[in-house]
Amino acid sequence: MNVSATHIPEVSTAHLRLESLEKRYGTFRAVKALDLQVNRGEFLGFLGPSGCGKSTTLRMIGGLIAHTSGRIIVDGKDISSLPSHQRNMGIVFQNYALFPHMTVEENVGFGLRMRNWPAARIRERTARMLETVHLGGYGSRKIKDMSGGQQQRVALARALAIEPAVLLLDEPLSNLDAKLREAMRSEIREIQLASGITTIFVTHDQTEALAICDRVAVMRDGHIEQIGSASDIYERPATSFVADFVGRINRLESIQNDDGTVRVGETHVAMRKAPSGPIVTLIRPHRVQLFDASTSTTTGHGFEGRIKSVSYLGDVSQYLIASDLGLISAERSSIGNERRYAVGDPVKFGWDADDMMFFSTEGPKQ
Ligand SMILES: Nc1ncnc2c1ncn2[C@@H]1O[C@H](COP(=O)(O)OP(=O)(O)OP(=O)(O)O)[C@@H](O)[C@H]1O
Ligand SMILES: [Mg+2]
Repeated sequence: MNVSATHIPEVSTAHLRLESLEKRYGTFRAVKALDLQVNRGEFLGFLGPSGCGKSTTLRMIGGLIAHTSGRIIVDGKDISSLPSHQRNMGIVFQNYALFPHMTVEENVGFGLRMRNWPAARIRERTARMLETVHLGGYGSRKIKDMSGGQQQRVALARALAIEPAVLLLDEPLSNLDAKLREAMRSEIREIQLASGITTIFVTHDQTEALAICDRVAVMRDGHIEQIGSASDIYERPATSFVADFVGRINRLESIQNDDGTVRVGETHVAMRKAPSGPIVTLIRPHRVQLFDASTSTTTGHGFEGRIKSVSYLGDVSQYLIASDLGLISAERSSIGNERRYAVGDPVKFGWDADDMMFFSTEGPKQ
């Protein structure tokens, strides 16, 4: 056997582990026996709709609310019963939770004062953290005189100042405008990569999660529906919920033939087997191919439709097509020499059978 000199044996790199972590409010299970491993230095996203338990999970990890059962393990040690200040976690809240009457410096140094650091060391560390978040020289400003984006960075500097074992970010960008949000998310990612801090980043914005996270855990009703890289989640969603929640999608009315193939509308479009039992058939808008009404399609089938609306989203154009299948959304690059269509244009459309996603129809999840 040819063993390479650089071969590194596989070791478990789990830094933070949740074991059957559960939170109940009365009989309501806000978080349901969650199991999760976060690797050392990993940037993990919690993504899911409002109320699915993202903040509750994060707050249990940070020790801000008590868990009902299960364990939280960091570096092999069970920290579930430690108070928050002994867990060494840096936390950034959705609403910054800064002290408005204090200066920037006083806010950043807050955790260090609580840890009884000497004043000189606090000053030094605070100045370094402010440099890290590009706010050098702002130390003596009052929080109320800082912009939203600057306050967000102060909150980040405060969380980083204590050299946390784990950084917990709960929708840290939600109050910022789109442009600043994008700039800040790259900045957070750069700081995280440079410092190597294991980080959990909560968001309900799928673009944000897919853009910066190493892995994304898609949550629903208190459990993790799927965990994986951005491309896993997007290209190979485990359930129709994930497919629906992450990225845009078309839901197709489909009928299964006796031989297991799938029919959409009047046409056989899938010559491969779908799961048995009731299914939903989904296709991503960028997989829908558009053709001129007068030409024949290259997909082996073609549906007729008419462009109902066109939205230009910068580098892609989004078409809504009225057809016998209902409204179908298609996305095309707006750059390059692709044919563009206008509202009212008759078109044909179709797709490769392999681009369809089939999921068994789910009953209500418990
Ligand atoms: N103190 C509480 N008492 C009862 N139910 C609560 C309490 N705190 C949270 N919940 C419920 O627990 C569920 C999960 O809440 P959580 O705040 O974790 O959601 P989230 O995923 O962070 O949502 P959002 O995206 O809106 O912030 C919700 O249904 C919420 O109403
Ligand atoms: Mg929340």
